[in-house]
Amino acid sequence: MVSDFLFTMKRTHTCGELVKKDVKKKVVLQGWVHKRRDHGGIIFIDLRDRYGLTQIVFDPKHEKKTHELADTLRREDVIEVEGKVRPRPKTMINKKLHTGEIEVIINRLDILNKAATPPIEVDDYKVANDDLRLRYRYLDLRRPMMQKFFIARHKATMAARNYLASQNFLEIETPFFVKSTPEGARDYIVPSRVNPGQFYSLPQSPQLYKQLLMVAGFDRYFQVVRCMRDEDLRIDRQPEFTQIDIEMTFAEQDDVLAAIEGTVKAIFKEAIGKNIKIPFKRMPYKESMDKYGTDKPDLRFGLELTEITEEAKESDYGIFKGAIKNKGIVKCIRVPVELSRKQIDDLTKFAQKFGAKGLSWMRITKKGPESSIVKYFGKKVLDKILKKAKAKPGTSLLFIADKPSIANDVLARIRLKFGEDLKLYNPKDHNFAWIVDYPLFEWNDEEKKWDPMHHIFSMPKKECLKYMDTDPGKVLASLYDLVLNGVELGSGSIRNHDPTLQEKSFKIIGLKKAEAEQKFGFLLEAFKYGAPPHAGFAIGYDRLVALMLGFLDIRDVIAFPKNKAAQCPMDGCPGPVEDQHLKDLNIKLDMPKKKK
Ligand code: AMO
Repeated sequence: MVSDFLFTMKRTHTCGELVKKDVKKKVVLQGWVHKRRDHGGIIFIDLRDRYGLTQIVFDPKHEKKTHELADTLRREDVIEVEGKVRPRPKTMINKKLHTGEIEVIINRLDILNKAATPPIEVDDYKVANDDLRLRYRYLDLRRPMMQKFFIARHKATMAARNYLASQNFLEIETPFFVKSTPEGARDYIVPSRVNPGQFYSLPQSPQLYKQLLMVAGFDRYFQVVRCMRDEDLRIDRQPEFTQIDIEMTFAEQDDVLAAIEGTVKAIFKEAIGKNIKIPFKRMPYKESMDKYGTDKPDLRFGLELTEITEEAKESDYGIFKGAIKNKGIVKCIRVPVELSRKQIDDLTKFAQKFGAKGLSWMRITKKGPESSIVKYFGKKVLDKILKKAKAKPGTSLLFIADKPSIANDVLARIRLKFGEDLKLYNPKDHNFAWIVDYPLFEWNDEEKKWDPMHHIFSMPKKECLKYMDTDPGKVLASLYDLVLNGVELGSGSIRNHDPTLQEKSFKIIGLKKAEAEQKFGFLLEAFKYGAPPHAGFAIGYDRLVALMLGFLDIRDVIAFPKNKAAQCPMDGCPGPVEDQHLKDLNIKLDMPKKKK
């Protein structure tokens, strides 16, 4: 038998709507039982939907039968009620709630669906552990806080679309089954049944396709697009994530930066009502590495690094001199505290965890620098170092002498640690910066070869062309990253549309002509038929939304994310497929032997 409850009345209001001026109105509400309180035989329920909470009241003196039925209500039951709005008694007014001045006295209750006892609470103050949240994601998503995040994300997406459309950008979809894209992670692949033994790749980004759209004459393209990358997951990395991807024809770096700044400004304004200042500051890659040891500096606080390699050469300190001999550098950070022995020991362990051999230090007291290494420095050199690092009484210097990559990385991490521990910034600030003038290539020490710093389709700067044949490490590119609070928000570049130069780039990274042809031939071919100069950018959209809302974990702004093992605890994917399915695809599994 079909239950009567399947046929509901139309709600007159949402649960976030009714206020004082609605008093005496007869209303029909629908929603979930959020919380229930019983006072002197009267049942109070907070009824919840996406729009908010409304207090509904079941009084046996008002409607006995309805009250009896209400007594069976449990958390998360779905109900429909009919009643009359009345003001709350003065003592029960809740100023924090939009509907906090009224309640609805109920005369009819229909239970539309009973809920089993929820395995996690729909309560912003009692958040379950990560696995349970993902296992019962639809319950986790019912939490008002989560709904707020997704409403903000929706507003942000609409703002970006509207802004870009207003600037003549066209939203054009690109395929999900593609050849392969050049972002450098592993591709997810999809077997083709009708082409046995052949595979599609899922796009790591629409990079090549958006460039083809420029060749096709669309002038300005954008897409809010899902990208797939098979890489190790982190708090700000998911196997599938969203980019706001743009590409522009006949555009210079400033045009792309301005388009992105306009988009980000519109997003912040529409989604959280915040006016952010544009243009964002710009910093060359080299300056960022020198001062902060990273190309994604958190600029909400200072604590700049100081290189003292030249000064260290004049000391007798074996550790510094040895590192310099091995092509290393010596760099230090000045922290605004006199560190204790225990703090230094902890920091040494921290530095070693990230690959440093050790950590040298000096504590600057009123009496002067204190440390077992002071004796290796003549007064003149010591004064030079203290002056350069702006070390004053009440501060300490921490030194790393190592390969530049390790010295920079470890000091950058120490810097962030102090920034956070000493609360040197306001966590609500949004500090944007462009990092510009990246090198086109970076040296891969493990494989002893040059890799593209971004992707291989970026244009070398005109003034650096002379180094293409002689010293690839010196070639800078029109390549730019956007950084927000120390997180890489996006990347882009002016593209290389010149086939001869492009061939040179392939050669430098050791990509043979035949291989380049096989991988990217379709793009190179298109470039023969009148390719305009073009440039673009992609914003990591999940990161942008999360940081805008004040946190780092992008899973909170993705409705159905994967866990750290790239699994979905809710639907159980990835999972095995039926033998027949594999047979149809001509695929045989060759599983690694299980370790005993
Ligand atoms: P890139 O590879 O730098 O550039 O990607 C752009 C931005 O996407 C975000 N991002 C991710 N977010 C979540 N999970 C991931 N696994 C993940 N990987 C990347 C980052 C990153 O900065 N086609 C080029 C752009 C261009 O040149 O136009 C590209 O994809 O925030």
